[in-house]
Amino acid sequence: MNSIVEKINTLRKNKNAVILAHNYQIGEVQDIADFCGDSLELSRKAADCDADIIVFCGVKFMAETAAILSPRKKVLLPDKMAACPMADMLNAEQLADLKKKHSDAVVVCYVNTTAEVKALSDYCCTSSNAVDVVNSIEPDREIIFVPDRNLGQVVKDRTGRDMILWPGYCPTHIFATDDDVRRTQKEHPDAITLAHPECPKAVRDCADVLLSTGQMLKYAKQSDSKEFIIATEIGIIHTLKKQNPGKFFYTANEKFICPNMKKITLEKILFSLEDEKFVITVPKEIADKARTALDRMLAVIPKG
Ligand code: 13P
Ligand code: SF4
Repeated sequence: MNSIVEKINTLRKNKNAVILAHNYQIGEVQDIADFCGDSLELSRKAADCDADIIVFCGVKFMAETAAILSPRKKVLLPDKMAACPMADMLNAEQLADLKKKHSDAVVVCYVNTTAEVKALSDYCCTSSNAVDVVNSIEPDREIIFVPDRNLGQVVKDRTGRDMILWPGYCPTHIFATDDDVRRTQKEHPDAITLAHPECPKAVRDCADVLLSTGQMLKYAKQSDSKEFIIATEIGIIHTLKKQNPGKFFYTANEKFICPNMKKITLEKILFSLEDEKFVITVPKEIADKARTALDRMLAVIPKG
């Protein structure tokens, strides 16, 4: 009998499907993917690839983004319950109210948002290009930044712009503490600490660098250092180790897990390809509006 991997390989070839996986996916899902990356890299790949089907191994907002950017491709999310709680911390009605209160403001939304919120936004960004996106906006414009208050604060600090922040957060990153990081730093005094900007301020303050997941992978490859403490979801450690055999990676906390990212398995990828489920669609009217904000995000190449 064919193994799951063989069946997936046959189906992806026969159906001209591509498997995209976020850096937080379980190791075997990252290993089988045609392409792994952070939110920005996966959005670019979804827009540029010439597959008929995209199997998106990530969470719903990522699959929605792929569907908006590639309206002619069928986008499948292998587990329809894989959501991002941060994206659900702001709905379109709440953003519309905020826009009414600040009617001259430009709205920048993090990609971790629903399609409806993107449709009401002027610019979208990810953690790898948020600073550059905000720097591209005329200096005298007021800015609303939603929904992540932690990334928003990093952007505020780095750009010096006075931004209105929404009090959203990532339930996985918010539990990381500076005690976790300092304890791990004491255990590994030569290690460089890489943290995701979604971490709370106390954790960001004891990190050496703040990076998106894709930037962490590049940083670790290029750095002369041999040891790294990773303050983000543990899924990335798999690829960090795989790409850097002579280097050592320590998680800041073993419980640094996004349960939604962990919902996708090889079995679910196989079912997804067999039954072409679960198809993620965005109504045309919303997709057309959201695409403007997303196209602006793709146009900004992160510096550094
Ligand atoms: P990246 O774009 O850095 O991969 O982040 C996505 C995310 O959801 C972080 O929690
Ligand atoms: Fe959302 Fe946080 Fe999971 Fe990223 S890690 S998908 S922000 S819940």
